[in-house]
Amino acid sequence: MDISSRLMKIVEMVPVSDTVADIGTDHGYVLIELLKRKKIRRGIASDNKAMPLEKARRNAAAENVAHLMDFRLGSGFETMKKGEANGAVIAGMGGILISELLESAAEVIRGLDFILLQPAQNPEILRKYLYEHHYKVIEEELVREDRRYYEYLMVKYDPTQSLRLGNHLDYVVGDLLLRKKHPILKEYLTSKITELEEIKDKIQLTSENAKRKSQEIDQKINELRGVRDGSTG
Ligand SMILES: C[S@@+](CC[C@H](N)C(=O)[O-])C[C@H]1O[C@@H](n2cnc3c(N)ncnc32)[C@H](O)[C@@H]1O
Repeated sequence: MDISSRLMKIVEMVPVSDTVADIGTDHGYVLIELLKRKKIRRGIASDNKAMPLEKARRNAAAENVAHLMDFRLGSGFETMKKGEANGAVIAGMGGILISELLESAAEVIRGLDFILLQPAQNPEILRKYLYEHHYKVIEEELVREDRRYYEYLMVKYDPTQSLRLGNHLDYVVGDLLLRKKHPILKEYLTSKITELEEIKDKIQLTSENAKRKSQEIDQKINELRGVRDGSTG
């Protein structure tokens, strides 16, 4: 079984645990690898579509770990009861969908020691949601695979965690990545700046609205440059 660097980072970040759920498991590779490495005792593979779940079951059988896994069909955490797993992984879905899945599962989430999130798009929307809903960010990571960058947030719901209202920059640049001067943070910020510059170049300044939009992008670019040039990673 060949596992990508994006998924391998998840395997590395998950702490040694009894039971871990993988929400939106698809191929099931994360749980299979965790079981093969004996980092977890059991895995709950959950997906809202039958075909991916079947794929996970076949892959697990091929790697001789299917007997250590449950395969559950349903959306988000609705396939789970509070206390069934120590931790959960949600990877490869957009930040908006991940926020919605967290929002609709308050009870199950209170029973988890960790949730490892790897948004495929809109990490800033997810970060805003987490900051505003009592999640503590325990660890953050960043991986480049081919030409794409992937962010990882290890979080825990903690009702004592004060709400944090930030600005755009707080949501785009992870605190912990900055604090530990992550080795690829600088190039990641450069890629974000390039993306914004490309968007700005496409704006035709024919209306007041367009001009405002262009100025807002300029401001975001300048903020990102400030962070990038101040970080030494
Ligand atoms: C792009 S794949 C990601 C698979 C794997 N987690 C990864 O990171 O490689 C997204 C998976 O999430 C599943 N999915 C989408 N919406 C879901 C939901 N609301 N609840 C559970 N699974 C969902 C899809 O069926 C698909 O298998």
